[in-house]
Amino acid sequence: MKIPTISPFRLILALATGCLLLAGCSKSGGITVGFVQTGAESQWRVANTNSIQSEAAKRGITLKTAFADGAQDKQIQAIRDFITQKVSAIVIAPVTATGWDPVLKEAKDANIPVIVEDRSIDADKSLYACFIGSDFIKEGHMEAEWLITATGGKGRILELSGEPGSSAAEDRHKAFVDGIASSNLKIIDSQTGHFKRVEGKQVMEAYLKKYAKGDYDILFAHNDDMALGAIQAIEEAGLKPGKDIMVVSIDGEKEAVQAVADGKINCVVECNPMVGPIVFDAVQNVLAGKPVAPVTYNTDHLFDSKNASTEAPNRPY
Ligand code: AHR
Repeated sequence: MKIPTISPFRLILALATGCLLLAGCSKSGGITVGFVQTGAESQWRVANTNSIQSEAAKRGITLKTAFADGAQDKQIQAIRDFITQKVSAIVIAPVTATGWDPVLKEAKDANIPVIVEDRSIDADKSLYACFIGSDFIKEGHMEAEWLITATGGKGRILELSGEPGSSAAEDRHKAFVDGIASSNLKIIDSQTGHFKRVEGKQVMEAYLKKYAKGDYDILFAHNDDMALGAIQAIEEAGLKPGKDIMVVSIDGEKEAVQAVADGKINCVVECNPMVGPIVFDAVQNVLAGKPVAPVTYNTDHLFDSKNASTEAPNRPY
């Protein structure tokens, strides 16, 4: 049998075409994305993970998810692992705001774009493609503004803050303090509950031991899970959340909006976790060499006694 021969020119052409096809594939249908999540500290977080995972599946994108149990060093290690695995892009929900430049530079040197979602970071902007999430400063201001109207600008506040060093906790606190600055609303104590329901309950129990009824007026929780934990502690102490102590929080989880409808929480500012579609639009645009907006903020709403009962049944998370 005669074995067909191929000229060196045709061989190079065939190899080059194959390479192009493979490269094209890795930029579209064959995309693999490494997703570095903070952990599973709240129902909000679970909804955020679901949004990212379901959107990847919808688009036929292979997603590898790493959960970091709320530890930045584990997130950095996960990014390094994804770089070694040569993923097409990395999406990160950073636990803390600082300390990212060295590992982002490693990703950039490996030609792997990084998309930051949920929490913003204080890093060199040339090291990541874009940020997608909520405006935590706006959330803190919305909460403060609502409280000033609801209380006439007077009251003693117990704060239940989120993860120390996270942009979510830092920005919400700063903006809230800024928002109440010209009123007679004052934060009298502030403790972290790390965005977790069980810790929100523990901190509230400690507050109720430390302060007598009449020493405080308002609980400002940085997220709904901590507020829901605190409500449990308030009720177990024989008090009425929403009445004996005004409760305000952030996220807009179905359970919290229902608690507003039930009169146990007075106001919830939304922080939308369902950013999967925007994140993967950005991933695909970046990989296609198209421009992406450096910052994309959600439009978040506010729920109080006026709209909570209509909203609660429709909440997607
Ligand atoms: O970064 C967003 C915050 O993180 C949410 O408010 C909280 O519920 C989550 O864990």
